[in-house]
Amino acid sequence: MTDIVAEIKALKEREDATILAHYYQNSEIQELADFTGDSLKLARAATQVKTKTIVFCGVHFMAETAKILNPDKRVLLPDLEAGCSLADSCPADKLKQFQDFLRSQGRKFQTVTYINSSAAVKALSDWVVTSGNAVEVIRRVPPDYEILFVPDKHLGSYLEEVTGRKMILWDGTCIVHEVFSVQDLLELKKRYPKAVTVAHPECPANIREHSDFVGGTEGMLRFLGTLKEPTDVLVATEVNMLWQMQHNYPQHRYHPVPGITCACNRCPFMARNTLEKLRDCLAKGEPEIHWQPEFDKAREVLERSLLNGPVKTTVGD
Ligand code: 13P
Repeated sequence: MTDIVAEIKALKEREDATILAHYYQNSEIQELADFTGDSLKLARAATQVKTKTIVFCGVHFMAETAKILNPDKRVLLPDLEAGCSLADSCPADKLKQFQDFLRSQGRKFQTVTYINSSAAVKALSDWVVTSGNAVEVIRRVPPDYEILFVPDKHLGSYLEEVTGRKMILWDGTCIVHEVFSVQDLLELKKRYPKAVTVAHPECPANIREHSDFVGGTEGMLRFLGTLKEPTDVLVATEVNMLWQMQHNYPQHRYHPVPGITCACNRCPFMARNTLEKLRDCLAKGEPEIHWQPEFDKAREVLERSLLNGPVKTTVGD
């Protein structure tokens, strides 16, 4: 383990690279990253990187976003197959067809797209949001427009509740957050009656309604910082998030939902990145995210949505 960490550090110097890692990466990767964060923080951090290479330890749409926002940087992703069920649920041609159908019905709408989507889908959108800025961006949609929200129907329904804006929802879900069972959560609540529950807004409504805090991963960390006493915390999101929570707020006790006997709260796509693949991609300079024709339009939408405008508002704040 130590050898491979030393190897990665040396390669990072040699290749003039910065490692960005999402909170859902395993702890070894998060530990040696230069920056860790949620999707929003990492997209913004990518624009501040001074080195000529970014290695993005996360899933494909995150590395793609980093490339789109930094056309002149080399962006590497340890495993090109690190995908996302939400991105897969919304192919660009299907979205275009649906938008054309709505227009043919005379519907006046703007498309608000969760960052967990392909660049081609972003290019068809008016706005891109993350769990960290969704409320703020939705407030920028003029009230006389309907909102088509894609691809996450659970995040969309949560945003309907919070903003009071009715939305046309795409039928996509995250395979990790979708499977949390309310029975498991209620069992854990019985075992830890004083616990507080934090849930990602990608969770279905029946999990969110039993939660004390609903918000993105960065919002969850901020919420934990507000708890005055050491507390039992039930965590309804990808299980690697617990490492970052423990690291920042070791005074609390963390319990994954649905529980440590089930591996279904681990994202199989995030798990494709390993220390070995991180080392190999630095050594070989691939897999690399290459510029695609749709990136130009996606860039305009991303810059308008993520880089310009208030930076503090977060789902759940
Ligand atoms: P955050 O932006 O809250 O980290 O969420 C990222 C994600 O992909 C959740 O599944």
